[in-house]
Amino acid sequence: MKRTLAEPFKIKMVEPLRVTTESHRQQALQTAGYNPFLLNSDDVFIDLLTDSGTGAMSERQWAGMMQGDESYAGARSWKHLETVVKQLTGMDYILPTHQGRAAERILYGILGGKGKVFLSNTHFDTTRANIEFTGASAFDLMPDQALDLELELPFKGNIDLKKLEEAITHHRPENVAAVIMTVTNNSAGGQPVSMENIRAVRTICNNHNLMLVLDGCRIAENSYFIKQREAGYSDKTYEAIAREMLGLCDAFVMSAKKDGMVNMGGLLCLRDDKLGRECTNLLIISEGFTTYGGLSGRDMEAMAIGLTEVFDPDYLHYRIRSTAYLGEHLRKKGIPVVWPIGGHAVYVDAKKLYNQIPVHQYPGQMLVCDLYTKGGIRCVEVGSVMFGKYDENKKLIPAAHELVRLAIPRRVYTQSHIDYTIETFDDILELRHQPRGLRIVYEPPMLRHFTARFERL
Ligand SMILES: Cc1ncc(COP(=O)(O)O)c(C=O)c1O
Repeated sequence: MKRTLAEPFKIKMVEPLRVTTESHRQQALQTAGYNPFLLNSDDVFIDLLTDSGTGAMSERQWAGMMQGDESYAGARSWKHLETVVKQLTGMDYILPTHQGRAAERILYGILGGKGKVFLSNTHFDTTRANIEFTGASAFDLMPDQALDLELELPFKGNIDLKKLEEAITHHRPENVAAVIMTVTNNSAGGQPVSMENIRAVRTICNNHNLMLVLDGCRIAENSYFIKQREAGYSDKTYEAIAREMLGLCDAFVMSAKKDGMVNMGGLLCLRDDKLGRECTNLLIISEGFTTYGGLSGRDMEAMAIGLTEVFDPDYLHYRIRSTAYLGEHLRKKGIPVVWPIGGHAVYVDAKKLYNQIPVHQYPGQMLVCDLYTKGGIRCVEVGSVMFGKYDENKKLIPAAHELVRLAIPRRVYTQSHIDYTIETFDDILELRHQPRGLRIVYEPPMLRHFTARFERL
């Protein structure tokens, strides 16, 4: 951190940000029921709600958009995307979808069903929802030590191999529909997965004749961590590392809104002929013809270019280091953050920071509100608002942790935006001992964090 890591790009087109006052933001937040999902983006100064679909495309991608071939069948832009993705995955069946969850719905709709089981390091919430929707069950198999928020481990996103073996024996191999490795492990703080771990999972899958799926929407970010942290990879290119990961798997699902560097798009890639044909049929019924799926020609062109740009060493170094910059500076200030810092986001331990706010008064949501009021920064609670449940007496069963996620959009904010974010935490430190909290006044039956409304206590 001695020298400034300058962004490896310069700005050619600007999108103005509206500077608002604290009293304006207080009013906006009250109108939004203290739920930043319900704010207008014009009222947000720095938007760290998600890194999904919020990145900036390059001049090459925008130029590619102008050359998008919108032919229904066999479009040039499709051929470009297919070539890039085949080279990366080595898979024969490349299916373009409108986003990641459409790929999940097609694949898990076919593999799932009542009595089937999916095993993963951690299922992302749309992955779990698509699996459970078919009647199947999804089990997360993280090592116990990875649940320690502060323990420094190089590959904290790995699956626990012993738990995996035990789960296969317990559920019986014939009921296991697939093993899914999510890289990086989004729901576990964007932590990376080692090649050694994926290789060991491959061996276990071979021994039991099981399918291995890579959920790789942040595959380039995972490649960065492997090159920096795993023995034997320092001389390999990021793309070669990604190809090696993919070479160990039977299928690849990708939300291209992350490392595809586009605002919308997804992929489903398969090796197996029978499954490939079945998924293709479902693609045609639900997304579109095989050579466009859920996408316009221009979207496919931009994705083909994005999937090449994302492996640029200067970009990846800037990407991972700039996320770490935010996390390391917050930690220096005494803000408890999940450690080590992952690839796409910094997670703050709100339970520890706001330890005077009881869990049933949602310390994470309170921190999200304070960051917005004090700095116009929007982020998301990943705690009992998102994952809490009720017992039969309507008493809250809290989530395991009360976190707040600051996700960094790709190539959007400069270091001064991040420095501003770090400084806003000075105001948060002043607030930390004030007795405050929130209660829910409206919540829908499912996925309540999106639309719930709160009142201040
Ligand atoms: C690991 C992972 N899988 C799947 C998805 C779903 O992708 P999409 O939002 O494009 O449907 C996401 C989105 O955040 C994700 O992070």
